[in-house]
Amino acid sequence: MSNTYWLNGKYVEKEDAYISPLTHTLHYGLGAFEGVRSYASEDGKSVNIFRLKEHTERLFESSKIINVPIDYSFEEVMNAQLGVIEKSGLKDAYIRPLIYLNSEQLGLDIDGMGSHLMISCWEWPSYFGAESLESGIDVMVSSFTRQFPNSLMTKSKISGGYVNGVMAHDQAKRNGYQEAILLDTNGFVAEGSGQNIFIIKNGKLMTPELMCCLNGITRRSVIQIAKDHGIEVIERQITRDELYTADEIFFCGTAVEITPIRSVDKINVGVGKRGEITKKIQETYISAVRANADQYKDWLSQV
Ligand SMILES: Cc1ncc(COP(=O)(O)O)c(C=O)c1O
Repeated sequence: MSNTYWLNGKYVEKEDAYISPLTHTLHYGLGAFEGVRSYASEDGKSVNIFRLKEHTERLFESSKIINVPIDYSFEEVMNAQLGVIEKSGLKDAYIRPLIYLNSEQLGLDIDGMGSHLMISCWEWPSYFGAESLESGIDVMVSSFTRQFPNSLMTKSKISGGYVNGVMAHDQAKRNGYQEAILLDTNGFVAEGSGQNIFIIKNGKLMTPELMCCLNGITRRSVIQIAKDHGIEVIERQITRDELYTADEIFFCGTAVEITPIRSVDKINVGVGKRGEITKKIQETYISAVRANADQYKDWLSQV
């Protein structure tokens, strides 16, 4: 079955969602997107989008930061994301709203240019493969540096900013790792190519402050879940050697969910497998997204 997309206010079939080769964003990367997930509930009775409001808020903030306008209301954009899942009949799916400049003109002057908003969706099970959620993944510290906030602002998901993440990820894959950890310009841990990072030491959870990493919605969820479990969470600068000596480390993000890291630069994290705190947070997160935790029901929007 073809998935239904939403393009500039209308539902279209995937095959009819074309863009011009002169689309400005395709040339210069000035656009922004979101990555959102829907999940079937544990009892199979409903499909829900996880933290739809927060993702939509971040999309509007991204649009403001890059000065590319969204011509639709907040409500319309929320409803369109619910609509593409409903019309496509998808359950465990990924939703990709993308705001991009039109093809009226090329060049660096964007004054007065209009934009398009497309919302696509597709079925997307686990990011690194189902087994990695339990076994963990092997990662390397990248030779690429995460961009400084004043070169590419990290509070928005700017399309062009992902060149940095894609190259770091590709370098890691070519060197036999599954993912990369990027450091910031001062050498402190920033985040993964497309995910936030947490380390655990002596029962405490630590994550980089919101300077050179995205204000991840899963990161916020993890902080809430940890606090609800009585686990202390500290947001601070983290050094590279703290990765090597951590008891547990995990990535978190909409796409990767909660993925344990079992080694960094071939050095085992803890005993080299998923740790107990990671497991606890992962299980609570999965219960929340699958509508199996009453406490977190307001994070879900039913399709
Ligand atoms: C660079 C980057 N960091 C972190 C994240 C995690 O953010 P979220 O939990 O909102 O998906 C993402 C994914 O969107 C990302 O692209």
